Amino acid sequence: MANASGFLTPSVPSLRRKIQPSIGFSRFGFCFSEGISRRVVCSSGVEGVGTHVSPSQSRVSKLVSKGCKLVGCGSAVPSLSVSNDDLAKIVDTSDEWISVRTGIRNRRVISGKENLRNLAVEAARKALKMADVEPDDLDMILMCTSTPEDIFGDAPKVQRELGCTKSQLAHDITAACSGFVLGLFSASCYIRGGGLRNVLVIGADVISRFVDWTDRGTCILFGDAAGAVVVQACDADEDGLLSFDLHSDGEGARHLGAPIKDDEINDLLGSNGLALEFPPKRSSYACIQMNGKEVFRFAVRCVPQSIESALEKADLKASDVDWLLLHQANQRIIDAVATRLEFPPEKVISNLANYGNTSAASIPLALDEAVRSGKVKPGHTIATSGFGAGLTWGSAVIRWG
Ligand code: ACO
Repeated sequence: MANASGFLTPSVPSLRRKIQPSIGFSRFGFCFSEGISRRVVCSSGVEGVGTHVSPSQSRVSKLVSKGCKLVGCGSAVPSLSVSNDDLAKIVDTSDEWISVRTGIRNRRVISGKENLRNLAVEAARKALKMADVEPDDLDMILMCTSTPEDIFGDAPKVQRELGCTKSQLAHDITAACSGFVLGLFSASCYIRGGGLRNVLVIGADVISRFVDWTDRGTCILFGDAAGAVVVQACDADEDGLLSFDLHSDGEGARHLGAPIKDDEINDLLGSNGLALEFPPKRSSYACIQMNGKEVFRFAVRCVPQSIESALEKADLKASDVDWLLLHQANQRIIDAVATRLEFPPEKVISNLANYGNTSAASIPLALDEAVRSGKVKPGHTIATSGFGAGLTWGSAVIRWG
């Protein structure tokens, strides 16, 4: 299906690269590019964020040399495991169909008293413990989620539950499956440009609350989880957030969303003979609606380009990188991107079979498992990429530890 924006036409990527600026960040500073990577450095403090200053124009070199590194990770998943066979009892599907088309075999789904916030807090505590950072030593908490317990955001409540007694800033970031990569980018900006020392980035989603469990096209894909990392200021030579490449395209939003819907009961309000437009209708959100084929095509087209761009900004080739860690949406997407970038299967991290697509949690959850199992070791470089609703997509080249 083609559209006016050319969202699905193969020729668009090169066109988009020419006309649509992307945001990038290399270890040398912020980079707003039009298809061509340009290195720039920050000037001083917050004012320096986003300004284009050539190295010779830089007024304060101190911040330019500042790096940030990943010093701890943690994750949490609900206790209830739901297998493909379990799903086959409620929708017309089979273990074979789901595992062949997606690679997913199980997913975790909240039950009882479990919720987004307690998963996020558990993941955060583990990350803080690994990092040897006390809650009060955090300068900021970024909660990347599209399924908050409270529409106004969950981060301050997570902050309270972690026992942070100082008035650090905590706020949510909403960007679906790209949320965690945007959280890493924001953390690096706050550290490099804002002088912060410890930033906790949490990726957490409870997509099961917004899935239509009668729709076999979507309910088989998702699971609930939380993952977290501590990003810490360091010297430039220890820098671990090497580059970013970030994009969004609202034109493609129609292929994936959970839009607001009006409550039909409120239609009665109009019968009072008063102004029909007031009060506004009470609203809730629809379940996830997705055109899987289009999302699939978007992912296999845009993600490799984005990773290539991030690698270029980091001055690295795919062969220099130890691991490819993609948002865990579908094994066929992971395999297609790995093939395109010539990553051998043994360098690809995947835990999708056990958890399904956990949205903003999928990258930190897979990272945490890979670190704790000893697969990812200090000094290893990882090319990572998140993609999904928005549409949004973004990649980062990071070094663990
Ligand atoms: N079990 C059995 N049959 C099914 C199921 C199911 N669970 N779901 C669909 N089918 C049927 C369809 O009805 C269709 O039948 P028909 O040929 O008789 O019409 C057939 O299987 C093929 O359906 P498709 O939708 O064409 O299957 P496809 O190969 O595209 O796979 C899938 C569907 C798995 C959803 C795939 O398109 C996909 O993974 N897309 C990407 C999704 C994604 O990555 N989303 C990430 C975003 S997450 C976020 O941001 C919140």
